[in-house]
Amino acid sequence: MSTFAGDIDLGLLRDRLVAIALRAGRMITSAKPTTTSSGTKKNSADLVTETDQAVEAYISSELGTLYPDFAFMGEETYVPGQKLGNEPTFVVDPIDGTTNFVHRFPYVSVSLGFAVNKVPTVGVVYNPFTGRLYSGIKGRGSFVFDIDKQQPLDEKTRTDTTDGQVQVPREDEGTKLPVKELAPLGGLDECVVAIEFGSDRGGQNWKTKTDTWARLGRRKEDGGAMVHSARALGSAALNLCGVAEGVLDLYWEGGCWAWDVCAGWVILTEAGGLVVDGNPSGVWEIPVDHRKYLAVKGAKDGEGQKELVNEFWGYIEGEMIYEH
Ligand code: IPD
Repeated sequence: MSTFAGDIDLGLLRDRLVAIALRAGRMITSAKPTTTSSGTKKNSADLVTETDQAVEAYISSELGTLYPDFAFMGEETYVPGQKLGNEPTFVVDPIDGTTNFVHRFPYVSVSLGFAVNKVPTVGVVYNPFTGRLYSGIKGRGSFVFDIDKQQPLDEKTRTDTTDGQVQVPREDEGTKLPVKELAPLGGLDECVVAIEFGSDRGGQNWKTKTDTWARLGRRKEDGGAMVHSARALGSAALNLCGVAEGVLDLYWEGGCWAWDVCAGWVILTEAGGLVVDGNPSGVWEIPVDHRKYLAVKGAKDGEGQKELVNEFWGYIEGEMIYEH
């Protein structure tokens, strides 16, 4: 059964997500990163803390009260095999950048996405350490806000449902994204590319990544793209927001999940950016749970975007394989 997103008050839903993100952010900044009894999930580089779990429990309980009929997919409660369906679904990463949180590197976000018919429709990404908050609604643009991290959240961000009012920045009150003026895009040799180690460190996927990173950086005489530089900052959601702002030109990763990208996807595409296949397949439209992504910033009249994607695909050495 498909749902028409127009039947849902997306502005109110976005306001509520912002309020929840601000509260969740306060939980994160006031917590000591304590790993769970196992401390890791898949391997020693795939960390999980008690805060990840507590924040997700808070978010799912708030959303369950406000939207009891909507589905919920969250990183910490995901069950292998669970698929994103057509029903309105919150797609949530309580702490995107858990490794950063554990190491106290302040590039951490609460990532709250909302998908309808599997299409990312509302996104809120909040870095509680910097106060930077991004939000976007499909068809209504995306914006960035500088939140006063000290604000008394209890009074200012009530998610009280009786009248649906929340005192959070209005959706169009921030700085419209991208913050840099749109211009035609040049080639890869003018770009800063966000990449990520991820937690799979062997086999074909790791080889594809490391060979491709080497080729992107290598000088042109030796067959490389000679990009300006690469950044591995540790939060997929914030990387997408950085591409939306235009401070990163591209972001390429395989292995992350729908909850890492759903919210940032709306924010980026509303800023004129694209998310396409992270493999060099020629596929321009991918599902949100595709797990292999190449994100490109917006361009004036889209000029140069297609060429940049094709150029990037031409430098990918091999193929990444991830189940979804
Ligand atoms: C991770 C971060 C990281 C990316 C991984 C994600 P988590 O999310 O987004 O940047 O490389 O693929 O799993 O585990 O910190 O929520």
